[in-house]
Formats: sequence, structure tokens, C-alpha cells
Amino acid sequence: MSKRQWNSGLRRWGMVLGLVGTLGLLSGCGRKDGVDAGPRGTAENPWVFGFSQCTLNEPWRVEMNRQVQLAAEKYPEVKLLMANAEDKSERQVNDVENFLAQGVDLIIISPKEAAPLTDIVAKAYKQGTPVVVLDRKVLGEDYSCFIGANNQKIGYQAGLKVKALLAEGGKVVELTGNMSSTPGEERQRGFREAIAEELASGKIEILHDADCDWKEERARSEMEAALAAHERIDLVYGHNDPMAHGAWMAASQQDRAEGIHFVGIDGLPNEGVSYVREGILTATFEYPTGGAEAIDVGLALMKGEPVEKVITLGTRIYTKEIVSARGEAID
Ligand code: FRU
Repeated sequence: MSKRQWNSGLRRWGMVLGLVGTLGLLSGCGRKDGVDAGPRGTAENPWVFGFSQCTLNEPWRVEMNRQVQLAAEKYPEVKLLMANAEDKSERQVNDVENFLAQGVDLIIISPKEAAPLTDIVAKAYKQGTPVVVLDRKVLGEDYSCFIGANNQKIGYQAGLKVKALLAEGGKVVELTGNMSSTPGEERQRGFREAIAEELASGKIEILHDADCDWKEERARSEMEAALAAHERIDLVYGHNDPMAHGAWMAASQQDRAEGIHFVGIDGLPNEGVSYVREGILTATFEYPTGGAEAIDVGLALMKGEPVEKVITLGTRIYTKEIVSARGEAID
């Protein structure tokens, strides 16, 4: 099937869903106990969106919640329920089950891991509750819309930057995000594709790589181990800014940070971009949360408007030279 056919199929499907939704609205059915019957999508009887967040451990997650909340507040016809799975996939499955039991109109989910959250997302979608998947993917296609930046491409861009920084060759530590979440796998794949030739020739060597589950503390202790084992480290690629920063803390405690480049991802103004400004990170890449887009897409789905299956957000690079100019957009 061509992309256009696929899109127009989706649009038609979206319209059917919209019609079914409207009929449901008119008859007031589909709601479980505790939620008003009657026409929905009004300030008196708003659409209920359940937002399942995987964790609030990192500043980036807090920012995502803020953006989702801010966007929802603009629409009196939307009521937002939020759940925090505290970094546990089983708990996140329960959170979605709870939303379904409450009869929410739509689910927004940023899954901790791909495989463990796939079935519950598919279940919601197949029973007619639209699902917007945000930032980390699930497996398969049983959801309404995925919104997120292209992590493989960000990893690739990070690889190009590393290649330029290590033009004479060098030794690298890669501190990965959770490898059973799609951004971890994609940020590694893109990175290694960009430096494939240098890896093959031995010009660039990855001395140490470890799954630090996106955590600053874990990255700090992995870096301590890497520093103890290797006299020379030229660069650390952290799959997010907290981990790049954790590695920097380990190195600077031993007075070894000066000779090492630290590259991260997320590019929050008060986190990664500040680190770049302070000279802690050599570069970071903005990873937009998609929070506002999720609410807009949710509303479009409620109204039966056409929605693309995948919405890809852009990225920007921040280095010391371009930090004041809001970074630089990357294609
Ligand atoms: C926050 C986070 C970000 C990262 C994203 C990937 O939990 O680890 O730092 O960019 O998730 O999904």
C-alpha cells in the first residue's frame, strides 16, 4: 500500500471513528460510573483524557507534564487525569487499566518500555478508546497516533558531532538509556551508524558501554568504573543530559573532566543548555516533549478530524558557539 493510500485509509478510518464517537456522544453511552452522561466536549461535560506518564525522575519528564497540563488548561472542554507509574512498567499497565475502568475518552501514554506496554495500549485501542503514544514507542501499530522526535536521527547527529570532535580518533564511553525503550535502542543505532567506518577501522573505539536506564546516578557510577579501567577517555556520549552530567561529575571529582568531551540529549533550557553554557557539555540535542501536540491531537481525534499516524518532531543542536541563538535546527 502506498503512503498516500495508507494516509487516506487512516483518514477514512478516523472519520468512521469520529462518527462512532459522535453517535456515542449523542446517546451519552460509553461512559462508566462516575462520569456524567450526556453530550461531551463541553465545559459542563468535558472529554476526559487520561495521561499515563512513566516516571517523573528526570527534569525532562516534569517538563513534559507541565506542557501537557498547560495545553489542556486552554480547553475547558477537556478534563485531564494524570498518573505517574514511578518508573515501573507493571504499574503503568495498571494505570492504563484504571483509566479504562473509569471510562476515559482518550489515553495519552509515554511508555517506560516498549514490549511490556504494547498489549494494554492495543487493548485500549481495539476496544475503541483512542490512544496517543508519546516519545517512547510501543511495538506494532495498534494505537491512534505516535508523537515524538526521530531518535535514530538524533543519535546519528550525535555521531556526526562526535566524529568531528574526534577527527584524530579517540576513545569513547557510551552511557545508554533503557535499552528496552525505543529511544535507547534508536539513539545507539543512529550513533553507531554515523561512526561505523571509524569503528571498523579502530579510529574510534567504544571502551565501555552500559545501560544506565536514563539515570544520572547510574551513569556516575558507570563512569567511575570506566575511569578506573581506562587511563585515556576522550569523549562520553550520554543518551540524555542527566547521564552525561553524571559522567562529568565522576570525572571532575577525579580532576579528569578537562580532557574529556561530554555530549548529551534533551537540551532543556535549565539543564542541558545551561550545562553547555557552563562548559560542562560540549553539545546537547533538543528532544521536544510533544506535550502540547498530544493535547491538540487528542482534541482532533475527539472531533473526528483526520490525524496522521506518526507525527515527527524536530531537533536542534546546542554548542557553546550557538547556545545564545536557540541552538541550530537540524534536518
Ligand atoms: C526522561 C528521559 C529523557 C529522555 C527520554 C527518552 O525520562 O529519560 O531524559 O530523553 O526520557 O524517552
